Amino acid sequence: MNILITGGAGFIGSNLVRYMVKKYPACRIINFDNLTYAGNLENLKDIENEPNHVFVRGDICVKGHVQGVFEGYSIDSVIHLAAESHVDRSILVPEEFLKTNVLGTHALLGAALEYWRTSRDKRHVFLNVSTDEVYGSIADGSFSEDSPYAPNSPYSASKAGADHLARAFNKTYGLPVITTHCSNNYGPYQLPEKLIPLMALNALEGKELPVYGEGENVRDWLHVDDHCKALDIVFQKGRPGETYNIGANCEWKNIDLVKKICAILDLLRPDSPRRPHANLIKFVKDRPGHDLRYSIDSSRIRRELGWEPLYLFEEGLKETVRWYLDNPGWSARVRSGDYMDYYEKNYLRR
Ligand code: NAD
Ligand code: DAU
Repeated sequence: MNILITGGAGFIGSNLVRYMVKKYPACRIINFDNLTYAGNLENLKDIENEPNHVFVRGDICVKGHVQGVFEGYSIDSVIHLAAESHVDRSILVPEEFLKTNVLGTHALLGAALEYWRTSRDKRHVFLNVSTDEVYGSIADGSFSEDSPYAPNSPYSASKAGADHLARAFNKTYGLPVITTHCSNNYGPYQLPEKLIPLMALNALEGKELPVYGEGENVRDWLHVDDHCKALDIVFQKGRPGETYNIGANCEWKNIDLVKKICAILDLLRPDSPRRPHANLIKFVKDRPGHDLRYSIDSSRIRRELGWEPLYLFEEGLKETVRWYLDNPGWSARVRSGDYMDYYEKNYLRR
């Protein structure tokens, strides 16, 4: 079986490629990624020579690249993660999000439809990896798969657009699309433009910890390994045309989470002159359109497919912070060039 994973050099993608390459030695994993600022082959160094892992550099927005990979590698199924993924960047440059997330997804759906037309008897799957952010913000209770779409950022609007197209390709053309909606991920190889690695690395260097607004916003956290296992189960056993929420019932206010990261650093770096790291917290101008709370009801995937998260947040978070401390070279390399330009644009105006 030839499985195309798009965005396999990014945070979740590289963790998923590693997981699939190791779990399915008889399958060929074709990792298709354009290596934008967020894609990094260093994330895959330990598996670059595995015989069932092929890396192809290509852009999901370029039809020729997409058709080339389907034909060149006889793609049987797709797990689609490639995207522009950072909300703050989407506020600065929304068009890039529309192009990659909407038009790129459309190009992939079209190629899958075309390529699988002649082999309908085979089991094909197009797993569209979406987000809980398409549901907007929720004051009480949790998002179910039937919650209405109400995206509030250009990022979530572009992911919603991709989901609608994926749904339409299933309803109109019978493409075997399954969509997942996952909550906030954390773990190794996450770019430090996102909350947890940004706070851990800034604190380590004695830089300010920029908490947006009053830090009252709530996110529902899941370890990336638990997300990868969920994607695998949905890929193997999910029903085409269906959608599945993925989450661990692990809600934290941002300010409490940042304080927790600081406390972990106080423990791991007892001799640091920055202790107590929480003194570095600074409340800054809020993110425009900032969703107050996400909360995922993942009972469908648990009940129907038997998935459950294994990580305890306290342990997963500690292990993650330790990973950033143990990999200073990785962090330094991903925080050069484009990262610094973006950091200045996003934070100097706050
Ligand atoms: P990421 O930004 O770390 O990685 C995105 C990857 O996509 C990068 O490797 C990048 O090079 C690649 N890419 C971007 N544009 C491309 C293009 N035009 N052609 C080919 N490759 C391209 O993102 P992530 O956090 O790993 O998220 C992966 C997916 O999971 C996204 O679709 C995101 O919406 C979804 N998701 C993320 C989270 C989260 O908490 N990070 C939660 C739920 C869902
Ligand atoms: O919910 C799933 C989504 O989670 C994914 O779809 C997105 O791809 C992913 O980026 C993530 O989006 P968030 O906006 O929730 O993640 P981020 O890490 O950017 O921010 C988490 C929270 O922390 C959010 O409330 C904003 C806040 N924040 C973030 C940064 C970067 C701060 O207070 N300060 C910061 O510097």
